[in-house]
Amino acid sequence: MKKNRISKNWINKQRRDIYVRQSKIEGYRSRAVYKLKEINDKFKILRNGQSIVDLGGAPGSWSQYLSSTLKNTKLLAIDLLEIQEIKNVKLMKGDFTDDIYKQKIKSFFNTKIDLVISDMAVNTTGNKNLDAIVTGELAMESIEFAKEMLKTNGQFVTKIFMGSSFNEIVSESKKYFRETSVFKPPSSRKDSKETFLISKFLRS
Ligand SMILES: C[S@@+](CC[C@H](N)C(=O)[O-])C[C@H]1O[C@@H](n2cnc3c(N)ncnc32)[C@H](O)[C@@H]1O
Repeated sequence: MKKNRISKNWINKQRRDIYVRQSKIEGYRSRAVYKLKEINDKFKILRNGQSIVDLGGAPGSWSQYLSSTLKNTKLLAIDLLEIQEIKNVKLMKGDFTDDIYKQKIKSFFNTKIDLVISDMAVNTTGNKNLDAIVTGELAMESIEFAKEMLKTNGQFVTKIFMGSSFNEIVSESKKYFRETSVFKPPSSRKDSKETFLISKFLRS
């Protein structure tokens, strides 16, 4: 009963949401695309010729955006869920924290890369504090992975949630990157604890 009420609220919210409508008009699979666009407008992280990993890429709007706007890029998206085909994007279905997949990603690029982006989130439990902790652990895993994958001066973007591990992730970023910013894109829902960490210029 309670679950039905929650999903009805969710459907009503989606119907009213201008970003959902806009994403349908523009042919994107998710409203999440506007968060990446807004991050890029402010921090200029995307450039032609980059090699980029999209962690937690399903259903695929971030990779759709990268593939359609950038030239001469090498792109890989991984998710626990299947991602429908996207032109010029290598897709992987698996858990990125699993060493086998980390290795597969490394072999695909076979060299250090320019950018790691992560919009990963775990299935929410409804308990916002618990969700923030588990997603915080994922963000910590992804920053570790970014350090291994990135070239000197490489960049990293991850979703993080305001919560207990927030300060730890921000200070980890400051240790390894010369510029660290926290930004909540205008299209990120106001009632969500979600925000984004933008880490630029990996130290050598
Ligand atoms: C908010 S969605 C990403 C939306 C995506 N940026 C887009 O534009 O379509 C978060 C995704 O993170 C994925 N995810 C969560 N944990 C993961 C993990 N350990 N490895 C890979 N993907 C994961 C989920 O399956 C989910 O599809």
